Amino acid sequence: MDSWLNMVLLCGLLLIASLQTTKAFRLRRSKSDTIQMLNTNIHNLQTHYNTKGQEWIGKSVFVSHLDQLNSKASCTCQALLLERMLKIYEDIFQDMLKKAEEKEIKANLIDVMTEVNKLKHKYSEEHKVWRELQDINSVKVRNGTIQRGALNDFLMVFNQAKTEKHHDKVQ
Ligand SMILES: *[C@@H]1O[C@H](CO)[C@@H](O)[C@H](O)[C@H]1NC(C)=O
Repeated sequence: MDSWLNMVLLCGLLLIASLQTTKAFRLRRSKSDTIQMLNTNIHNLQTHYNTKGQEWIGKSVFVSHLDQLNSKASCTCQALLLERMLKIYEDIFQDMLKKAEEKEIKANLIDVMTEVNKLKHKYSEEHKVWRELQDINSVKVRNGTIQRGALNDFLMVFNQAKTEKHHDKVQ
């Protein structure tokens, strides 16, 4: 009886172990399957849009922005938002100053603006990122040349984006 129970327990453990191995294996495989699939997709698209020729070498959309990514490591989402808020405060106070009539009110506004401006200078990195976001946002998505160039750097950017989120989860 005792050995029968041991046998059942052992079988159960073996079953669990094998299920977990299969699951881990499947997860690993599905990740490389995705990359494989995307490689094939992009290859097919490049053939269809005829971008395999010499004239398309080096044409891309975001490679130059990708080079900048590593130098912006200290810029956080919070700092980026705060820089924008400071900028808008500056514009608000600027307009209030323009409309103000009393001398004392003007002096108060100037004090505040001076401090906002001083602090804003410390956010120059974030300001650069903001400008870059505007550049990225202004890419002409309907332009055929841009579209064909996008096929060249898509996989690189996609992989970096995927790695970025993977790091987040691990932390
Ligand atoms: C599309 O983009 C290319 C490269 O930026 C540019 O030379 C071309 O003039 C654009 N075409 C149109 C129709 O805007």
